[in-house]
Amino acid sequence: MKKNNLKYLNDFWRKSSLQRHFRGPPRWQPLNKRHATTALLCFFVLFVFALVLVGWIDAKLIQLSTIVKKQAFPLNCFDGNITQSCSGDYPTSYKPKIIPGHSYNQSCPEFFRWIHEDLKPWKESGITREMVEAAKWHAHFRLTIVDGKAYVEKFRKSLQTRDLYTLWGFTQLLRRYPGRLPDLELMFDCNDRPVFRHRDFKGPNATRPPLFRYCGDDHTFDLVFPDWSFWGWVETNIKPWRDVISDIKEGNQKIKWNDRVPFAYWRGNPHVSPVRADLMRCNITEKQNYSTLLYVQDWDKESKMGYQHSNLEDQCTHRYKIYVEGWAWSVSQKYILACDSPTLLIIPHYYDFYLRGMVPLEHYWPIRDNNKCKGLQFAVEWGNNNTEKAQAIGRAGSSFIHEELNLDNVYDYMFHLMNEYAKLLNFKPTIPPGAVELCAESMACAADDIYKKHMVDSMVMSPVNANPCTLPPPYTPEAFKAFIDKQANAARQVAMWEDAYWADRKQQ
Ligand SMILES: *[C@@H]1O[C@H](CO)[C@@H](O)[C@H](O)[C@H]1NC(C)=O
Ligand SMILES: *[C@@H]1O[C@H](CO)[C@@H](O)[C@H](O)[C@H]1NC(C)=O
Ligand SMILES: *[C@@H]1O[C@H](CO)[C@@H](O)[C@H](O)[C@H]1NC(C)=O
Ligand SMILES: *[C@@H]1O[C@H](CO)[C@@H](O)[C@H](O)[C@H]1NC(C)=O
Ligand SMILES: *[C@@H]1O[C@H](CO)[C@@H](O)[C@H](O)[C@H]1NC(C)=O
Ligand SMILES: *[C@@H]1O[C@H](CO)[C@@H](O)[C@H](O)[C@H]1NC(C)=O
Repeated sequence: MKKNNLKYLNDFWRKSSLQRHFRGPPRWQPLNKRHATTALLCFFVLFVFALVLVGWIDAKLIQLSTIVKKQAFPLNCFDGNITQSCSGDYPTSYKPKIIPGHSYNQSCPEFFRWIHEDLKPWKESGITREMVEAAKWHAHFRLTIVDGKAYVEKFRKSLQTRDLYTLWGFTQLLRRYPGRLPDLELMFDCNDRPVFRHRDFKGPNATRPPLFRYCGDDHTFDLVFPDWSFWGWVETNIKPWRDVISDIKEGNQKIKWNDRVPFAYWRGNPHVSPVRADLMRCNITEKQNYSTLLYVQDWDKESKMGYQHSNLEDQCTHRYKIYVEGWAWSVSQKYILACDSPTLLIIPHYYDFYLRGMVPLEHYWPIRDNNKCKGLQFAVEWGNNNTEKAQAIGRAGSSFIHEELNLDNVYDYMFHLMNEYAKLLNFKPTIPPGAVELCAESMACAADDIYKKHMVDSMVMSPVNANPCTLPPPYTPEAFKAFIDKQANAARQVAMWEDAYWADRKQQ
């Protein structure tokens, strides 16, 4: 024992009343009735306590043993041969086992209700084979699931490794819920912008092609699905979501909000869209001060320098963070929102699958697209004047990302969207000739090391001992309108404050 501890114990001993009882030989005192009752009572309380403790330990042990017993299925690439076949020993079906005290039927987050909205165009007509084939024009691949196995038919190569990691996501979903996904065929487009417009497919009998992709907008009916970056983005050195999110959580602890730079921060590639190029006008110079600090990310240079300046966990250093979309939605959105600093979100044209569940002023601060610089300046000034409220927005946005958008929910969103989609198919899915069976081994074993690393890091090791969360019912038309109005009103409110503020400043 260390000396300090010893001293502490000695002090404790000297001061404690216990010492008195142990000084000198014990004096015998006749046991009176009150003492006896107290002793009995003490004994009884101790006895009950011991019982409870033993029970608790027992329950923990049972839980632990079920967890320990759960088998893991790592990548099995060498089998006397380089096996790239999918004949491994991974279970083809799985039913969750009941662990006492564990909640099974959790409700999914609210934003899952958009699954119903997205599938509405096919609610009456169902989805025919003709419709699916019509989507092929734009698709990079067709994913087929028959009897719990996945197959891919590739049509063309996507940008970077988008298709690879999207397919990896599908195989991991199947490992998470083996045998629980229905038979289906779907077309997937890995490009940025949605393509099938409402106005080109009018009338109840229109052949609307269902096409899965990463984002949507108000004029199109493409189906919005989680993007590849949840399993990593090799080309920009971004790790799989589960790892990034815990890095950012740690990064968030490094600098308290009050100690962060009281500016709005953005770092990225401004050359992908006019709205980003326009944002660059707002940077601080000797002549102007919109309270923003904007930096150009040169990915080529970064990759040569070993990505020293692009660590996402080191980017939670400013009080405000700016989100601006790129050519369409941007993968960066979730990393920006995760920082505990309020996100100044330049109102986007394109949305991904979770943004529609977020509410301006609650989860982020909306900035009008046509008045960016002044909007940003006002937001920063407002936030520095109202630090409590600003921090609350930062925390709410962050907790949405860390909790509602955790990887479990990403998988469950995929599960429910695919499940609800499959319910609408009115033909029997079949394995197309020339399709390749997909599984972790067939994808990862032959992959180059840098691609393989992200795959291994994001691999689902065994079926999850839980049901998917419970999908909330569709919005009623009234509830839907109320939700949309709430979002619009909050954005309008900010615009009004801002206009009043600038009108005031002009008069002075
Ligand atoms: C090893 O793999 C090759 C190519 O996939 C195959 O032709 C061969 O039959 C396999 N050998 C064994 C022993 O499984
Ligand atoms: C959970 O949901 C499933 C499917 O909806 C149902 O069959 C099961 O009884 C539910 N379990 C509990 C404990 O409520
Ligand atoms: C749509 O199809 C149904 C059944 O095939 C037909 O009765 C109806 O007239 C069609 N409607 C239009 C607007 O073409
Ligand atoms: C710019 O404005 C911010 C307040 O919004 C202030 O803290 C900062 O000192 C100003 N910087 C310069 C260089 O004027
Ligand atoms: C914006 O201003 C900061 C501070 O002066 C500077 O370091 C940065 O390079 C500027 N960004 C751009 C894109 O010019
Ligand atoms: C911030 O506070 C200052 C001083 O009270 C005030 O002049 C300014 O208008 C406030 N700005 C905003 C955006 O609320």
